[in-house]
Amino acid sequence: MSVTPNNKTDYAKEYAKVELIGQYLLAAHCVREKLMLFKENIHYLVDFGCGAGKSTRAIANCVREGGVIVGVDISDDMLIEARGLNEKLKDKLPRVKFEYKKIMTQNGVEKIPLADEVADAVTTTIVLVEIQSEEQLRNAFHEMGRITKPGGQLVVINSSDKITCEDFTSFTYAPFPENKERKDNIRKCKSTVSNIVWEKERHWSREILTQFAEEAGFKNLSVEYPLATESIPPFPDNPSRPWKDELCFSPFIMLSARKESTH
Ligand SMILES: C[S@@+](CC[C@H](N)C(=O)[O-])C[C@H]1O[C@@H](n2cnc3c(N)ncnc32)[C@H](O)[C@@H]1O
Repeated sequence: MSVTPNNKTDYAKEYAKVELIGQYLLAAHCVREKLMLFKENIHYLVDFGCGAGKSTRAIANCVREGGVIVGVDISDDMLIEARGLNEKLKDKLPRVKFEYKKIMTQNGVEKIPLADEVADAVTTTIVLVEIQSEEQLRNAFHEMGRITKPGGQLVVINSSDKITCEDFTSFTYAPFPENKERKDNIRKCKSTVSNIVWEKERHWSREILTQFAEEAGFKNLSVEYPLATESIPPFPDNPSRPWKDELCFSPFIMLSARKESTH
């Protein structure tokens, strides 16, 4: 029986049911740790490619009290789910203003619906894998750079470009619709080049990511390949369920940087 939803709305609904578990938990933990270093300076935080808002809600504690966190995405269906979940979870969420906005496309070029230099920090969690062309990727960085204040922070997490050998790694995947069909919910990664295209996912290389970030005005770039730790289990409701290879091989490349100051 196929469990893959047959349209985008159904997919977004299924996606929204999945909690912050597995690799998404690790990604959120890494982004949170980075942003917390700058919390006192973060009033306005943007989550590029927010999906159903999992990554957005996960970083809500990283803004100053009274702050604003804005999730932006190209998918209307995801944004509907994000707004619905925020409403449902509002009593459990910190007192931060959440907004979800649609990224518009004009002549094939995406534009984040925010003014220049409004954000104290911009993050993006497992989104760039879905971007298919270098031109689109460059534009995504350009847009993230445009909306970031001089001196503001960027934190990017994407699938690692070091995933290089067939059957080398097995990772703990969240039970998204497409993953449910995978045996034991484990995906083996295969490819031999850094610009991996894996079932339409792109593991963009460190070189491309850093080049486009620099072109977008970001400086002081740091690149990490974060590992999971046993002290943070991948499935909080079932702490005996362990990580797979994430303990010794990072599923992610994480880039952090600061927007160039004008003075
Ligand atoms: C794997 S989901 C991650 C969602 C969210 N960041 C999270 O951690 O739950 C990828 C999201 O990226 C969005 N996306 C894909 N391509 C995009 C693009 N070119 N610009 C903005 N968002 C995009 C999709 O609509 C989807 O919501």
